[in-house]
Amino acid sequence: LNAEGSNPFEIAAKAADQIREKSGIQTHDIALTLGSGWAKAADLIGETVSEIPGSEIIGFSKPAVVGHVGTIRSIRLPNGKFALVIGARTHFYENHGVRAVVHSVRTAAAAGAKTMILTNGAGGIKPQWQGGAAVLISDHINLTASSPLEGANFVDLTDLYSKRLRDLAREVDPTLDEGVYVQFRGPHYETPAEVQMAKAIGGHIVGMSTALEAIAAREAGMEILGLSLITNLAAGIQTTPLSHAEVIEAGKNAESRISALVAQIVSKI
Ligand code: 6GU
Repeated sequence: LNAEGSNPFEIAAKAADQIREKSGIQTHDIALTLGSGWAKAADLIGETVSEIPGSEIIGFSKPAVVGHVGTIRSIRLPNGKFALVIGARTHFYENHGVRAVVHSVRTAAAAGAKTMILTNGAGGIKPQWQGGAAVLISDHINLTASSPLEGANFVDLTDLYSKRLRDLAREVDPTLDEGVYVQFRGPHYETPAEVQMAKAIGGHIVGMSTALEAIAAREAGMEILGLSLITNLAAGIQTTPLSHAEVIEAGKNAESRISALVAQIVSKI
């Protein structure tokens, strides 16, 4: 079907079949990818009925980074629906290609999910976001020079991060700010000059995930909610050097608060 000789949608369908088989859950209604700082949400949104190591499902690779959790959970929500929680995110910087990056989203769609909640830890460009703020993603700028779509697949990306879901999130927390997420390839953090560029072109949040996944989720027809935990200010905005340890630490400190936020949002969807 394509240059690599395998169809990514067939692999995602197989992965979804494996999840159905191992979890016993035939349809998942909503999917969440939990990034740095967001993992605890899985414990709060409902009752876990199945937890599968990503390594047991086709197409998922072991997490490359400390702080990223590598399991796929099925959770029964209080309303009886099921959520699929993906802790096994593959980042573009891991060099497994863009198909690997969006495999979890395609698997979630194949498992039945109509809503995709994408979360991440990211750097803030707005100084007032200092210290563990959760921010809604209103739009993105994809600076990876890549797309998960192949061929002449001219998908519309208007209202990519659903206004309806952002409004719903603000019913839970009216103080939630929003901003444009700029996806860089990473794995290095940006230079101060690159952060100034991101700001100049309309960005407010810098990170290394989410935009490519959102494009794949839109292609799959899902409604998308994007949430960033501002773990630190971006280079040059913050004057002290950035470190992965700092990002993980900020995630830990914010975890209970932002996980409760996600749980409340999910209960409204
Ligand atoms: Cl400053 N940049 C990027 N790309 N990702 C981050 C970050 C910054 N802080 C946390 N994650």
